[in-house]
Amino acid sequence: MKRVAILISGGGSNMVKLVESMTGDHPARAVIVGSNDPQAGGLAKAAAMGVPTFAVDHRAYKGDRPAFEAALLEPLLAAEPDILCLAGFMRILTPDFVQRFEGRMLNIHPSLLPKYPGLHTHQRALDAGDAEAGASVHLVTPELDAGPILGQARVPVLPGDSAETLAARVLTQEHRLYPQVLRRFAQGDLTPITLTAA
Ligand code: GAR
Repeated sequence: MKRVAILISGGGSNMVKLVESMTGDHPARAVIVGSNDPQAGGLAKAAAMGVPTFAVDHRAYKGDRPAFEAALLEPLLAAEPDILCLAGFMRILTPDFVQRFEGRMLNIHPSLLPKYPGLHTHQRALDAGDAEAGASVHLVTPELDAGPILGQARVPVLPGDSAETLAARVLTQEHRLYPQVLRRFAQGDLTPITLTAA
């Protein structure tokens, strides 16, 4: 059984879908959920599902990313994860941290990478006049949002879309995509998958 740690910064809707998926014959189980924000709404949701949680407030380590990461690593490593899933974790990680989990850290990003790494992905897709948007799950490498893609979900951009309506359509597909990719990854299958909106 693979042990999965999940890092979040916010509401944690993707984390909830991941945790819910890891039951029965699934080859992995969630062992811990952590956040850089003690107020992150997802922490209570994880606890309610019976998953241990921790928070390391990044604001206490202003200007010292290595010290923040050292504090983050303590509870994380104690949980002995085989796989680390970033699920709406909004802090940039140093190459040192990334290398510790090389080949076993996944991230979900709300764009069809390599398009729109970084922030404001939905507004950027709208500004570019894209007909399609989506989300990607990829392996994390030191370069931001640039690691090998394990799966993508595509949705149409509709007339009258705002960044908010598009984000909501994409998020619904993120909730299908991330659990499917994680299950395959935990089985050792790194072949990329593509989902289209049903
Ligand atoms: C998701 O849309 C995820 O793709 C995005 O944050 C949201 C988190 O929602 N991640 C990033 O932007 C990473 N740079 P959630 O907390 O409800 O899962």
